[in-house]
Amino acid sequence: MDLGVCYYPEHWPEERWALDAAQMRETGLTRVRIGEFAWSRIEPEPGRFDWDWLDRAVETLHEAGLGIIMGTPTATPPKWVVDQIPDMVALDLEGKPRGFGSRRHYCFSHAGYRAEAARITRAVAERYGKHPGIVAWQTDNEYGCHDTVQTFSPAARDAFRVWLADRYGSIEALNAAWGNVFWSMEYRSFEEIELPNLTVTEANPAHWLAFRRFSSDQVIAFNRAQVDILRECSPGRDITHNAMGFYTGYDHHDLAADIDVLGWDSYPLGFLEMFRFCEEDKRTYARQGHPDIAAFHHDLYRGAAIDGRWSVLEQQPGPVNWAHYNPAPLPGMVKLWTMEAFAHGAEMVSYFRWRQFPRAQEQMHAGLLRPDGEPAPALAEAREAAEALSEFQGLDKQATPKHAAIVFAYDAEWITQIQPQGLGRSALWAAFACYTALRRLGLNIDIISPNADLSDYPMVVIPCLPIVPDALVAALEEYDGEIVIGPRTGSRDDDFGIPPNLAPGKLEPLVGGTITLSESLPDKLDERGSHGVTGGWYDYYSGEAEAEMEGEKDQVLCWKHGKVRLCTTWPDRSGFASVLERAARDAKLPVQQMPEGIRERQIGNIIVRSDYLNAKTSWREV
Ligand code: GAL
Repeated sequence: MDLGVCYYPEHWPEERWALDAAQMRETGLTRVRIGEFAWSRIEPEPGRFDWDWLDRAVETLHEAGLGIIMGTPTATPPKWVVDQIPDMVALDLEGKPRGFGSRRHYCFSHAGYRAEAARITRAVAERYGKHPGIVAWQTDNEYGCHDTVQTFSPAARDAFRVWLADRYGSIEALNAAWGNVFWSMEYRSFEEIELPNLTVTEANPAHWLAFRRFSSDQVIAFNRAQVDILRECSPGRDITHNAMGFYTGYDHHDLAADIDVLGWDSYPLGFLEMFRFCEEDKRTYARQGHPDIAAFHHDLYRGAAIDGRWSVLEQQPGPVNWAHYNPAPLPGMVKLWTMEAFAHGAEMVSYFRWRQFPRAQEQMHAGLLRPDGEPAPALAEAREAAEALSEFQGLDKQATPKHAAIVFAYDAEWITQIQPQGLGRSALWAAFACYTALRRLGLNIDIISPNADLSDYPMVVIPCLPIVPDALVAALEEYDGEIVIGPRTGSRDDDFGIPPNLAPGKLEPLVGGTITLSESLPDKLDERGSHGVTGGWYDYYSGEAEAEMEGEKDQVLCWKHGKVRLCTTWPDRSGFASVLERAARDAKLPVQQMPEGIRERQIGNIIVRSDYLNAKTSWREV
């Protein structure tokens, strides 16, 4: 695994570059990511390019022996671009423009901005595409960051209409599929359809789902245009993009299909603080991050990537600037996070950023160096990680055991966001809950798409998958491992309708029955004991399966039908974890009970152990 760093030569005096590059090498770093926000320096005025400084920066880094990952600068169109095409800015949910002065202010559907993005991408790719120092390209930066995938602009509306006509063929077909007879929402032509924001009460969930799919497709198309240019101008180099944490705004399986290496940006402390972890976890792991945050995403993005090629494009090195509170990691955590990424098969971990920049938005965001250029605490840990990693040259990753697969689909999360039915009942967090439960059993986990091959896994878990693709139905029929199915699975057709035979729809034969009613309950009912561990969600099942586990109020928590376990409660309830454990034991997996804060993963013949409470990483051979 390579180590790298995100570097912004345009922030520092040129005299410093060679020193920085030498110090990177001396630390053990071999990769450097540059350029992704440098448009205003590359092209200060329309059509006037200033390559000299970037040529020299590329030369300096290359000469020092660093492999360069060059970013296309399309996440930060300069002011003159916005002034030239003012309607390229995105409109938010309320229809307000997302103004200039930060980043990601563009609309994915705007043809004029797409042309600009292609133009600047081609300019950079032609300049550096064949330079021996360039090892890879990063397209744009964090598609969707700051909630930017869905844009409610006229350009998006027009493109949405074309997309709908293409998908449904006729307006009658769309009206029928969406059930538009309800509330007299029928349309006479595609030109009548607006975006689903600004309605009085919720818009038709089918309308929202179509818009989510469309918005995702726009990201994929925007990215693909860059990929095509980069492949043409820079053959043989990997193309990557940096995904985010707990983020599902576009379909990452689709994006991953177009690139070589799927990257992601790992900020465990910021994520712990900003996402839905309980107060106790926030206290216990404030300086470490919850032990499953980074690993969950490693396994999610590895599972999405072609040939499982993935990396950490940004690794938190110290306090960040964007969470409610921004603690410093415990000494040892930067090394632990790095080794854990290795354990999950990363090709690279790149720290964000080399040197803390004393001005502008991220002035409080740590780097490997302080703003004054002296080492920050993470620098020594990066060096230690580099030394440790040098032990593992030639490791055979193919020998990594496959224990359990968790099936996750992006449209599952869109559906549970559009119509949660119970506050916070999310497919993504259902997957996270199953992940945590399995990881506490010490298992190697892959998070895979519903279209992936199941045959290598002794056990498959489908935490919450409202739309079950035909390919998965067929794969499950053939599959002979243990299967665990969670709530809402098979509960919707492609257009957000309830299947004629009720949930789980096409999986009815597999589970030997149907869900006749689903109810959701506020957590406070748990305290009164009204549903015991089944609080939050309950599916009433009718069919030929046998009750395997009962809750406090005679409710069946788990039904068993052959190799299939059907869980009726939400996956974050304790009962669910014991169902997963039973299935793992039936699958003859090497189940252990990990002590609090300890996690392990095997890669090749090495088991890496992460001790989160004590910020210690260690490894052993098997
Ligand atoms: C990422 C982003 C970086 C930087 C970083 C700060 O989301 O890609 O450019 O802003 O966060 O933590």
